[in-house]
Amino acid sequence: MTTNKMTSLWRVQPGANDPAARSAIAAAAQMLRDGGTVAFPTETVYGLGADARRTEAVEQVFAAKGRPSDNPLIVHIADESQLAELVLPYGETDRALMERFWPGPLTIVLPAIPGAVSPRVTAGLDTVAVRMPLHDVALRLIAEADCPVAAPSANRSGRPSPTLAEHVREDLDGRIDGLVDGGPTGVGLESTVVMTEGPGVVRILRPGGVTPAMLREVAKTVLFDESLDGIGGEHTNPQTAVHGSDAAEPPSGLGLSVDAAAPRSPGMKYAHYAPEGEMVLVSGAASAVRDYIRREAEAASARGEVTGVLTYEEHRNDYAADAVVACGRLGQLETAAQGLYAALREFDARGVQRIWAEACPGDGIGLALMNRLAKAAGGRVVSV
Ligand code: TXA
Ligand code: MG
Repeated sequence: MTTNKMTSLWRVQPGANDPAARSAIAAAAQMLRDGGTVAFPTETVYGLGADARRTEAVEQVFAAKGRPSDNPLIVHIADESQLAELVLPYGETDRALMERFWPGPLTIVLPAIPGAVSPRVTAGLDTVAVRMPLHDVALRLIAEADCPVAAPSANRSGRPSPTLAEHVREDLDGRIDGLVDGGPTGVGLESTVVMTEGPGVVRILRPGGVTPAMLREVAKTVLFDESLDGIGGEHTNPQTAVHGSDAAEPPSGLGLSVDAAAPRSPGMKYAHYAPEGEMVLVSGAASAVRDYIRREAEAASARGEVTGVLTYEEHRNDYAADAVVACGRLGQLETAAQGLYAALREFDARGVQRIWAEACPGDGIGLALMNRLAKAAGGRVVSV
């Protein structure tokens, strides 16, 4: 049923307001209103949208992605009037977050009006995760569809998220009704997901483009969910253990919650973003990381394996693996965030079997980057 759809494709440059752009958005919006699935660009990654109120539409999203159904979806809105139809009264800190960061890459988990969206969107929780994307094509599409749009990243479940329309086609062509190609996304990693816990207290459930320092401009206490320090653990970095589940300092380990019993952001427990080859994340002093990766890659090559190194522009010439891919600049980690998912897809395209990834500093956007690297590595983290 989901494998032989005709996927309509529209191209809309952000900011374009010519008749062709307007009719493309109108057609894609109509498709959403009719209960279809439409992929569209946001400032983070491409999303696969459906009318959040319609269970049959939302089920098509899960089916197209092959996504586990206990993982709730983010609901996207274009303006504040849509919010009133989704959520119960919320606190002043939530309001301050919206004023400071919307539209933008921040998702806020809020108390849901019962029945406002399909239970398939919330996975039965009494909360709903809402965000207003900072992308002109997304905002126009949602406004014109005139419905709350549930949209997870537009990739097959387990694959790296799409930062280009081409990535969406690779994964979902023939499985979804439409795709709006708006060019490359901006941040490159999914939004920060937060939940407030009383006045001035914000808990990060998933790190993203809105950094802890930015959240601190609004909330005096920023906590890190226990699901974020799972991977650090004693076996990789003893420092992360002292933070505990209410750490007010970022966990340096970052990110896998494979054994957290009941993660607050249910999606964090799945192995995500993974390339097909087996990846290991290597952290430590720069020269030790380089020597370790060189040694391991050479040994794997000698065994006949196709090897890959995920690195940064500054270190590109340090390695001689089959595929040496720089995701961006270490000196400007925003570029590495933008390039990460495309880099992971490149290893797949080149048939790489074993990948070593260099860790990066975990502050600023580096927290989100390390979180996704750790997940792509499926928890295989080595400190050298
Ligand atoms: O940047 C993004 O957020 C992208 C683009 C397309 O907007 N969307 C995205 O959606 O990443 P999705 O559905 O793949 O991510 C949902 C995340 C998961 O970690 C999920 O567990 C969490 O948000 N989530 C959703 N509803 C929740 C809720 N009610 N409580 C806690 N976490 C929730
Ligand atoms: Mg996703």
